[in-house]
Amino acid sequence: MNNRQENLRKVPGITHLIAVASNKGGVGKSTISTNLAVALHLLDNKVGILDADITGPNIPRMLGISSGSLSGEGEGLRPVEAHGIKAVSLGLVLPPDTPVVWRGPMIASSLKQMIFDVSWQELDYMIIDLPPGTSDVSMTLAQDVLLSGVVIATTPQEVSLEDARKAVAMFDKLGVSIFGVIENMTSDIFGKGGGKDAADELGLDFLGSIPLSKELRIASDEGTPLVSSDTEHPASKEILEIARAIHERCSTMQTETSSIIKRELT
Ligand SMILES: Nc1ncnc2c1ncn2[C@@H]1O[C@H](COP(=O)(O)OP(=O)(O)O)[C@@H](O)[C@H]1O
Ligand SMILES: [Mg+2]
Repeated sequence: MNNRQENLRKVPGITHLIAVASNKGGVGKSTISTNLAVALHLLDNKVGILDADITGPNIPRMLGISSGSLSGEGEGLRPVEAHGIKAVSLGLVLPPDTPVVWRGPMIASSLKQMIFDVSWQELDYMIIDLPPGTSDVSMTLAQDVLLSGVVIATTPQEVSLEDARKAVAMFDKLGVSIFGVIENMTSDIFGKGGGKDAADELGLDFLGSIPLSKELRIASDEGTPLVSSDTEHPASKEILEIARAIHERCSTMQTETSSIIKRELT
């Protein structure tokens, strides 16, 4: 743990916070976030998903939960449960189609409220679906909150790889560890292997490639993540593999931390 990380806030009760980032919109961050969250739940973990795309929240639609379903209780806001995971999104508070026209500071403070003032209770994982780019949200998150790591989503095309490099540079600068690169929408049309090449070039792990798939898109549009409805689909299998790799990596981190604590105590 470096000096910078010691100043970061840990979220009580949540073991691992993992953000899904890219520098560009439309590469599949929200699709990956929801399916990855459900996949980690299928691997026997307690999982939450935080929709940090404050001005363009998509998580409610992808999980099939509607606005107004977030309830306030004695201990504060309670997440909504769907497909075995807990979710919080501004899209669950605001009426549908309400544009969010907040400035940076308000966006940053609402992000912190969604993380710290919601009664998430015990979670093994919180997946954070970021907006595209090196926005206020990504900066606030990386500067103030202790993340276990981020995964970078990219499509196989070169233009998007350029963007992925920018996201990687930002997290590197802020000292956030990068778990690796996921290539999404792998296909004859968009190509294949660009994500792996970029990972190699940047010295990052390559986590897997999710095929371009009509079923994956339809499932998201209909509010049931594909991983939840069809675990045998090639896209689901790939996402489950990625979830396993991330789970393994996080489990190792935990062992390392507890052995450091043990060493310090003895
Ligand atoms: N592998 C895929 N195959 C087919 N459609 C996909 C795939 N990944 C994402 N999509 C679709 O592409 C669109 C953009 O994805 P989304 O997850 O919203 O991207 P982002 O969050 O990066 O803006 C959505 O309509 C989504 O259903
Ligand atoms: Mg999104």
